[in-house]
Amino acid sequence: MTPLPEPTTIPEKPSIGVYKRHVMVCTGIRCDQHGDAQALVDTLSNKFKVAGLHAGPTRVKLSQISCIAVCRSGPLVCVQPDGAWYYNVTSENMDRIIAQHLVGDQVVDDLVFHQGPGTAAAPEIS
Ligand code: FES
Repeated sequence: MTPLPEPTTIPEKPSIGVYKRHVMVCTGIRCDQHGDAQALVDTLSNKFKVAGLHAGPTRVKLSQISCIAVCRSGPLVCVQPDGAWYYNVTSENMDRIIAQHLVGDQVVDDLVFHQGPGTAAAPEIS
């Protein structure tokens, strides 16, 4: 087997803007059969802007992801670094998550289906 040639240049180190939290919305086909997750994503930039989460020290980074191996009861939203995984994130429930969690720093316990490691207090999951 012929060894690969040594790279002659090192890629430029990428960078992203500073953010407080990272919100990931699954828009995979099994979560988004009716377009609800994509419709949610399409509203979030404006919702974050209205809540003051689009810039500065409270900035929220938004990403669409294609699957987190749950595949039911969506739209699903994961908020890191708090480790909070939300289900049934309708527009109204997203408004609660924005007000209570992203602005108020308190996880919305009744919408969490999984609490992973993170910086938020773990809710009681039944
Ligand atoms: S498609 Fe969303 S978790 Fe699998």
